[in-house]
Amino acid sequence: MTKRKFFVTTPIYYVNDAPHIGHAYTTILADVLARFHRALGDDVFFLTGLDEHGQKVQQAAEKRGLAPKAHCDDLAPRFQDLWAKLEISHDDFIRTTEPRHVKVVQGVLQAVYDKGDIYQKEYEGLYSVAEERFITEKEAASGQFREVKPLKEKNWFFKMSRYQEQLVSYIEANPDLIRPEHRRNEMLGFLRQPLGDLCISRPKSRLAWGIEIPFDRDYVTYVWFDALINYITAPGYLSDGEKFARWWPASVQLIGKDILTTHCVYWTTMLFSLGLDLPRTIFAHGWWLVGDGEGHKMSKSLGNVVNPLDLIELYGVDALRYYLMAEMTLGADSNFTPENFIKRYNSDLANDFGNLLNRVSGLIGRYFEGNVPAPGTLTPPDLEISSQGAALGEKVEALLLQYKVDAAINEIMNLIRAVNKYMEVQAPWKLAKTDLAAAGRVLYVATEALRLAAVLLRAVMPGKAQQLLEILGAAGTGLAWGGLAAGTKLQAHPPLFPRIETEKKQ
Ligand code: MSP
Repeated sequence: MTKRKFFVTTPIYYVNDAPHIGHAYTTILADVLARFHRALGDDVFFLTGLDEHGQKVQQAAEKRGLAPKAHCDDLAPRFQDLWAKLEISHDDFIRTTEPRHVKVVQGVLQAVYDKGDIYQKEYEGLYSVAEERFITEKEAASGQFREVKPLKEKNWFFKMSRYQEQLVSYIEANPDLIRPEHRRNEMLGFLRQPLGDLCISRPKSRLAWGIEIPFDRDYVTYVWFDALINYITAPGYLSDGEKFARWWPASVQLIGKDILTTHCVYWTTMLFSLGLDLPRTIFAHGWWLVGDGEGHKMSKSLGNVVNPLDLIELYGVDALRYYLMAEMTLGADSNFTPENFIKRYNSDLANDFGNLLNRVSGLIGRYFEGNVPAPGTLTPPDLEISSQGAALGEKVEALLLQYKVDAAINEIMNLIRAVNKYMEVQAPWKLAKTDLAAAGRVLYVATEALRLAAVLLRAVMPGKAQQLLEILGAAGTGLAWGGLAAGTKLQAHPPLFPRIETEKKQ
């Protein structure tokens, strides 16, 4: 049987922006899904990268007195280094200034032009310099666009309108294309209005930093038309037919809700024009908001960005990955506050998880010389834990296949919480004084549950989960109950998740 494939993408981030936890969130989410699918034995291709053309990059480079490419080369490592720190396991990192991408964008422009889907016209309308695109009167009236000015210009247009009906039928027939459901409805609502054509060129006289249009050298292409194509450049479109056939269509394209229309309308109609399949799913997650109460989207202009490096420095990579994945329900917005971060860390990781490890390893040390005791025959309370543990893998898998990452983590933590209760009730520290075998049984069951949780948490917290498995002498074990071998010597360890002490003690 050929292996199942899983191709996951993140948006390519603007190279100009300093990476913040919003960017980190999407990338960690993709990483968790990629790691999870690799653990299932699937063939995985995980793509991320940088969006490097456009006016903002040109202007920022000018300000620094650098050529735009040198400016990009200088800034790209901010993202690459952060992904390395966050243990992101991407298979490809694409930058839109790479020759491989420029070639494909030009190939796509030519193909769409040859098909008759690109035409030139003079257009007069309102242009948002900040957004780098023409906007409608309605959009201008919304007040959400900055630096709006009237502009009359000859440009090239993509006949997006031609594919409106096809797109609506496709979305209706494929409920998984746009998720979650409310975003799908939002797009269907948007598509009830007549769809205009998309201006895909910028005269070089106004903007030079872009990919030249192959059939009109006075123009470069619009940054979004360029950027979206990264998703097919990387898997080999127009360069490696076999690779492309292997990976395209993407299994899931993760995006934030801010770029829903570009992906669900521009991108899909571009693919229609090229005669390519649409991705199986475009999944739009919500925003991380900051600030107390009402919550604002993080942005450079508001000066409220949360820098992931600070959190890594303070609490470690795995704690950050855990928090972002456990806290946000995919599709909804979440509020980021340091208090909230610390609260969740302390309750889930330090208390529920870390203390359980300290307890079992302490007791096994005291009563069993640090060797995992044999379970013997399980009694009903043990069986409750073992059956919850044995069923956990499938439950978590089903939830992750539905992109319910927070719910999957919660299932794992439910097992840990159940084990903590079980420990309280069974009190192996008391049992050890009267019935050592019974104490051993309880400690085996509790430690085995911890092992299972660690195996399942590997996708979320690769470092700490591996550390825990090594402590348990169980690296390389799988999801079947009983993977922990009796007699294994536990490794000495410092607390896995030391409690974060805050000044105000409650
Ligand atoms: N360059 C475009 C995307 C082109 S994709 C072909 C872009 N870049 S961006 O740097 O602004 O990053 C956008 C993505 O970063 C969002 O779609 C989202 O995935 C993530 N986030 C940025 N800010 C965010 C929050 N405050 N909260 C959650 N995620 C956000 O748009």
